[in-house]
Amino acid sequence: MLVARSLLILIFASLVMTASLMTGPANFAYAQENDPAALQGAVPGGTTEAGSSDAELWRQIRQGNQGTVAGANPRSGLMIQSEGERWRQIRNSELPMYSAIAILGMLILLSIFFAIRGRIRIEHGRSGHTITRFNLLERASHWLLASSFIVLALTGLNLIFGRSLILPWLGADAFAFITVTGKYIHNYVGFAFMVALVLVAVLWVMHNIPNRHDVVWLLKGGGMLGGGHPPAKKFNAGQKIIFWVVILCGISISMSGWALLNPFTTTMMADTAQLSNSILGTSFPTEFAAVQEQQLQSIWHSAMAVFMIVVIIAHIYLGTVGMEGALDAMTSGEVDENWAREHHSIWVDEVNADNKDVAAGKPQPAE
Ligand code: HEM
Repeated sequence: MLVARSLLILIFASLVMTASLMTGPANFAYAQENDPAALQGAVPGGTTEAGSSDAELWRQIRQGNQGTVAGANPRSGLMIQSEGERWRQIRNSELPMYSAIAILGMLILLSIFFAIRGRIRIEHGRSGHTITRFNLLERASHWLLASSFIVLALTGLNLIFGRSLILPWLGADAFAFITVTGKYIHNYVGFAFMVALVLVAVLWVMHNIPNRHDVVWLLKGGGMLGGGHPPAKKFNAGQKIIFWVVILCGISISMSGWALLNPFTTTMMADTAQLSNSILGTSFPTEFAAVQEQQLQSIWHSAMAVFMIVVIIAHIYLGTVGMEGALDAMTSGEVDENWAREHHSIWVDEVNADNKDVAAGKPQPAE
């Protein structure tokens, strides 16, 4: 529950950061507040023409008035993009601050959970019988997803925290080298992540459609509140939540990553704002300067990635130290029958029934 509540707060913070960047007038107010010269219509730096300045002209420039530029890049008609100041502030202070709170918060929560609950043991001990949980293709897809995500997470986190955490002790030259190399790795490994995401989605989507057992599972807190493990099919409700977070955030991160790789070629943020206005009745602006589209994409990409990192930290905990017997599913693909019966009782009955049918020579439905 504590973990779920922190995740909700994190989603909310991502939405607030991006929405605050989208709302133009608020940004203009921010620029004015932080720039007294702009507030009075004066040119910053005290530069004036014949001792006075054209307040109206200056106001228009600060509000993003865009002229036309003959023969040059059409984007250079925008002299000052005030929202850029807000973007810079979010990118350099709010994003690292909330990201650090979220990641450290999850690590602290898991440590407290481990201290209270300890390792979730196989209650009846290992039976010595195993059943096949994931085939080679499933495991290979999972590990491609996991390894690419970890590389993306480390190289991405370096872009958020590297300057303040790594640069001071590594020195400028070495930091520049690892950051530039990391950036190229990040750009290319993104494609491996997308391929793995599609594979995992296709292989497991049928097992992740919610059913009535999930409601019972959630009401019983997955058995954490006592009363034994609630019944579950191949994936329980907790795993289904992880699956859908991975798929939806994965798509969102991939799309915003694509927009960052191909600057000024997409209008996904403006399109999303338009969709949200017509479906949810929000009132986001729907016209963004090309550079603002990129700024929104950069904050969205980072915030979604940090959210997914936080969820995956919890997933890695449960797949390794948190639960006895779980990792076997992703290494050999074979799990102990007692582990399977405790966590996925309905699935075990289904597998045993299928095996009996095979032994009796009954025809099997196509998977
Ligand atoms: C070293 C890191 C990781 C470990 C040790 C690990 C371990 C596992 C294990 C043991 C399972 C099977 C659980 C079962 O049998 O019921 C699993 C499933 C899964 N993993 Fe991972 N995993 C890791 C990283 C990742 C990453 C980075 C992603 C996604 C970006 C991911 C996505 C999934 C999904 C969607 C499932 C199916 C749903 C679930 O069981 O929660 N895993 N993982």
